[in-house]
Amino acid sequence: MKEKLEAIKAEALSKIENAGSLDSLNDIKVAVLGKKGELTAVLKSMKDVAPEDRPKVGQMVNEARAVIEAKMEEERTKLQRQLRTEKMKRETIDVTLPGRRPMRGHRHPNQIALEDLERVFIGMGYEVVDGPEVEYDRYNFELLNIPADHPAKDEQDTFYITKDILLRTQTSPVQARVMEKGKLPIRMISPGRVFRADEVDATHSPSFHQLEGLVIDKGITFADLKGTLEQFAKEFFGKKTKVKFRPHHFPFTEPSAEVDITCFKCGGKGCRMCKGSGWIEILGCGMVHPNVLDMCGIDKNEYQGFAFGIGLERVTLLKYEIDDMRLLYENDTRFLNQF
Ligand code: DAH
Repeated sequence: MKEKLEAIKAEALSKIENAGSLDSLNDIKVAVLGKKGELTAVLKSMKDVAPEDRPKVGQMVNEARAVIEAKMEEERTKLQRQLRTEKMKRETIDVTLPGRRPMRGHRHPNQIALEDLERVFIGMGYEVVDGPEVEYDRYNFELLNIPADHPAKDEQDTFYITKDILLRTQTSPVQARVMEKGKLPIRMISPGRVFRADEVDATHSPSFHQLEGLVIDKGITFADLKGTLEQFAKEFFGKKTKVKFRPHHFPFTEPSAEVDITCFKCGGKGCRMCKGSGWIEILGCGMVHPNVLDMCGIDKNEYQGFAFGIGLERVTLLKYEIDDMRLLYENDTRFLNQF
């Protein structure tokens, strides 16, 4: 009996030592100490042992059991530690690896230019005003001194919804809307989308954006207009920028002018950007026409004003040296990511 027990113990201990995994350790436990295990079988065969030997044999079984259990526990701890070490090794994070940046949205170049424009004019005390894109003929044309037979009213240029309602062709109707309200003085800009029945090409689109400006106060002169736009050009395009006013015609201003700035690429020497002239046209402007003041209910003998209209896309294309307007509308992220 003693030898049998020794044999069971020795075999169990060697098996435990070579178990190699928690699972096989468990199998060994069942095979040796379990209900149908080898050691349990010895206890069950106790009835064959002479009564006086039973306590001794019992003690031997218990001792063997204790030794086996202790070894098992030791091995289990060892295996668990091993597993944890391996797991930690697998899960180590290499903090020196470069991070993967999530894709982020970008402000559209048009939007960046618009915010820059707004910043400049807000800095001069201008208020930003919104106006409707679907507009009455009255605001888009009539109150702006654009007569019924004006070529701009041709259906080839204007998207009409009804005879009197249209998609605004310019942001200038916001001038009329603000003047009509009669709250003076006025110093406002109004950026927004405009529509013209144009074919798409590198410089045209049926929908683009303008930024309108209007100042009405007592004693406003062309010198104020010049000073304002000069200041704007220097702030927006750079300190060295010079401006040139060229006589022009707009129905709603008199006198009217177009404004050129010295090419910011070549500084005025002439390059591809300015088509060799050294100058780039950026906006239209003028003194608000007395007819417009009259029609919008402002006393022309007391108040004067100036207005200007900037093409947003034009300014964006210039500022970022983009050579095709279509790029602004395609929203290709390879293009947009550059801003
Ligand atoms: N509305 C004009 C256009 O679309 C631009 C313009 C010119 C606006 C002169 C003005 C201005 O306010 O005074 O071509």
